[in-house]
Amino acid sequence: MDQTRLLKSLSDLPLGAIKYFDRLGSTNDEASVWAAQGAPDLALVVAEEQTAGRGRQGRSWVTVPGASLAFSIIIYPSEKSLHILPRLTALGALAVRDTLEKYYGVRTQIKWPNDVLVQRRKLAGILAEAQWMGDQIGALILGIGINIAAASVGTALRNDDSLRFPATYIEGILERPVDRLELLHHVVAELLRWRPRLASPEFLQTWESSLAFRGEHVQVITGQSVGKDGLPAGLEGQPPTVVDGMILGLAPDGSLKLRTQSGEVIAVRAGEVRLRLMETLPAHL
Ligand code: BTN
Repeated sequence: MDQTRLLKSLSDLPLGAIKYFDRLGSTNDEASVWAAQGAPDLALVVAEEQTAGRGRQGRSWVTVPGASLAFSIIIYPSEKSLHILPRLTALGALAVRDTLEKYYGVRTQIKWPNDVLVQRRKLAGILAEAQWMGDQIGALILGIGINIAAASVGTALRNDDSLRFPATYIEGILERPVDRLELLHHVVAELLRWRPRLASPEFLQTWESSLAFRGEHVQVITGQSVGKDGLPAGLEGQPPTVVDGMILGLAPDGSLKLRTQSGEVIAVRAGEVRLRLMETLPAHL
């Protein structure tokens, strides 16, 4: 990726500042350090290659030079967006969703809270990390990784979950090359478009209309937050709880509404959705 082209292509967007790296550990880590040093709102970190890219739940995320998009954006949440924190973490997923539908004609689904799937395959992952100052959020780092070319998948997620949500990539779906800078511009522009409408009914409706596995029985791993996903510092490192239930939709703050096996309706504020194994494995296994 060429830095001059990158800066030029994003120059019409009201970003706070932009840092580009050919090679970096993790754009989220860099953004986090930058935020602590006083980065402006909407500061963007882009890397061609990440050597220590991170995913949710402690997974690693591989960013292959020339084949992926990896970037993080720093957001200082307004006072009133704090009570709808799960919505804030979904900003990135909605931006990727809209970009793909509007500009590439690709329908996506959002695996709560913020993985972007195409036909049940993972195209993009989002790592939302809050920087806490006591019980206040200082900054939210939204890290977005998008699989662009064939080389970006295969090693993208090496864990159990990847078997249930195998990866896909945009050039494979479209069967043509995709300009990464153009895609990046669209995603950032869509994110900026949604941000002032975070509290609107439209935000929730759009998210809910793309919610993956609605009406399906899933397992939600709650409370586990190696990646600080929207949880107050005190809740990090708590043992995970597994909740079985059927996805009903979203609660007003963006939490996931589930009907549990006992018939109770609960809302999960932070966690990870998994399909229940018995529903994903072929019967003969
Ligand atoms: C996941 O699916 O588990 C989330 C993956 C998030 C990957 C992105 S790539 C840019 C940013 N930097 C990181 O280290 N992670 C996020």
